[in-house]
Amino acid sequence: MENSFDKKASSWDDNTRRLKLIDDVTDVIIREMPLQKSHRILDYGCGTGLLGFRMIDHIGEITFCDTSAGMLEQVKKKQETLGYQNVTICQADLTTDDIPGSFDFIFSMLVLHHVENIEALLKRFHSKLNPEGIFCWIDLDEEDGSFHSGEPMPHLGFSKKNSETVLLEAGLEPIFYSSEITTRKEVAIGYKDFRIFVLAARK
Ligand SMILES: C[S@@+](CC[C@H](N)C(=O)[O-])C[C@H]1O[C@@H](n2cnc3c(N)ncnc32)[C@H](O)[C@@H]1O
Repeated sequence: MENSFDKKASSWDDNTRRLKLIDDVTDVIIREMPLQKSHRILDYGCGTGLLGFRMIDHIGEITFCDTSAGMLEQVKKKQETLGYQNVTICQADLTTDDIPGSFDFIFSMLVLHHVENIEALLKRFHSKLNPEGIFCWIDLDEEDGSFHSGEPMPHLGFSKKNSETVLLEAGLEPIFYSSEITTRKEVAIGYKDFRIFVLAARK
């Protein structure tokens, strides 16, 4: 079944705003998250793997997971071009499916606002994390819907209070929060800055 992200996949990495945002998020992660060469990590809703490939030299193994076959095709191409062996690619939706393995870190960037039942997903993340494992949630702060030009979304970003509450309900304890990053996007009324948070929670 075609996924709405499939047709965006081949030009996903051409967007300079997106690449700058990935750089800014990577800086916060490398500065704040205790990544180790022994770690197994999951990039969930990985898209073309922009975030995961930025971290790959700091960790042991990475699983790229997404529901879009088109996005995962781009991940595969990058893996082959870059020659990494420590990569697993899987097409799955963890709200309903399971994937093999367990992880020291799960990263998920700009995905959960697309997911209706984030409570089910966070519980699955909890079950996929090793003891003391960390879920790192990168997403939009509360916004007015203009980020997706008014297209209906399950969530118009997340407030710090609400995101921390759902994490705690899933058994994940917030340990880090930063909203220092903004991304400037062209919307109907011109350019607008959207705040992006990085929130880490430990099992
Ligand atoms: C806005 S894109 C972000 C991609 C990537 N994380 C990035 O920052 O470039 C959202 C991604 O989440 C994926 N996605 C949406 N719902 C999903 C779900 N329930 N499970 C896994 N992936 C999902 C989409 O296919 C898409 O690749």
